[in-house]
This record gives sequence, C-alpha cells and structure tokens, in this order.
Amino acid sequence: MVRGDIDLSVLVSKTEIDSIVGKLGARIAADYGPVVDAGDSLVLVPVLNGAIYFGVDLSRAIQLPLEIEPVKVESYKGDEAVDMNMALDLRRDVGPRDHLLVVEDIVDTGMTAAMLLDRFKKTEAASVRFCSLLDKPTRRISPVEVDYIGATVPDTFVVGYGLDYNGEYRNLPYVAKGVMS
Ligand code: IMP
Ligand code: MG
Repeated sequence: MVRGDIDLSVLVSKTEIDSIVGKLGARIAADYGPVVDAGDSLVLVPVLNGAIYFGVDLSRAIQLPLEIEPVKVESYKGDEAVDMNMALDLRRDVGPRDHLLVVEDIVDTGMTAAMLLDRFKKTEAASVRFCSLLDKPTRRISPVEVDYIGATVPDTFVVGYGLDYNGEYRNLPYVAKGVMS
C-alpha cells in the first residue's frame, strides 16, 4: 500500500519484530544477569518518542528486575551543524551500581547515540551500553558502537513500530519501507 509518497509495504514484519525482541531480551538478560544477581540495577533508558513501542516490548522480554527511565532529545538543524538538546533528562541520580542501557528505535547518522553515550559516560554509572531495534549503517556520520542491534536496514526513511514521518505512522504494528532517503 502506498499513501502519498510513503510506501507502507512491510520491511520488518510484526512476526520478525517479535522474534528480534525476544532474542535481544534473552541476550540482555544473560549479559546483565550476573550483575543484577549481585545487587546492581539495570536501568533501561528508552529515547522518546521513537523507542516507546520497542522499549515497552523489550522490557517485557528481559526476564530480570529492571527500571525504566526515559529521556527525550530535541535536535535542531542549523546551517552546518545539528544542535542537540535534552528535552527530558534522567530523573534519577546515577551511581556506581547502576547499569544504563539506552534503547533507541534506529541509529542513522549516529549523532544522537554519540551524544547520549558521551553524556551518560560522564555519570558514575557502572556501565553504559546502547541497544537499537534498527541500524542504518550506510548513513553514519558519528562512529558509534552499538552493543545490541535488532536488524540492519537499507538507506530508506522507515516508519512504523514507533518510527514516525512528521509525527504519523508510529502506531503501525510493523516497520514499513517508507521513503528512499
Ligand atoms: P541519528 O542521530 O541521525 O542517528 O538519528 C536518530 C534519530 O532520528 C532516531 O532516533 C529517529 O528518531 C530519527 N530517525 C532516523 N532515521 C529514521 C527513519 O528512517 N525513520 C524515522 N525516524 C528516523
Ligand atoms: Mg528517535
């Protein structure tokens, strides 16, 4: 189905998303199980608004006690650089027994991920890692290490399962092709 200039045909189906989320949840639970058993805290940090669906589903796929502490980033595109601002920052103190796992919908240029990782690594957190449902590596500007990736997608502007185009399409239950970028 095509609506306007948006191609709503399936790129990553609901079944594939469920399988990806289940596998990521199991990996994350295995990786963090020992530190959580030892008394540390796993804190998921979903990046609003895009990661709302993925963040909720992923949190339920991680069979460990955890906290959820969302943040929101606003970016303004100037003439040359992109200016980024924390519209919602962490609402709790971070100490040496906290493991932050940032949860994103997609890593594109990598600038948002780089900014967040840089920022959170300045806290006292025991560890800071990054998990993204989707990765668009061909568009990278900031080299950034993504610890957990659900799926790699081609250079198209995708929508659905949290990802929007001008605020719309987030509630599609699958990831659609969108528009070639
Ligand atoms: P980056 O800073 O360029 O890596 O972009 C990260 C943010 O841009 C993501 O969190 C998304 O909100 C948005 N974004 C990047 N690519 C897409 C896309 O294909 N569809 C929808 N949003 C996107
Ligand atoms: Mg986003």
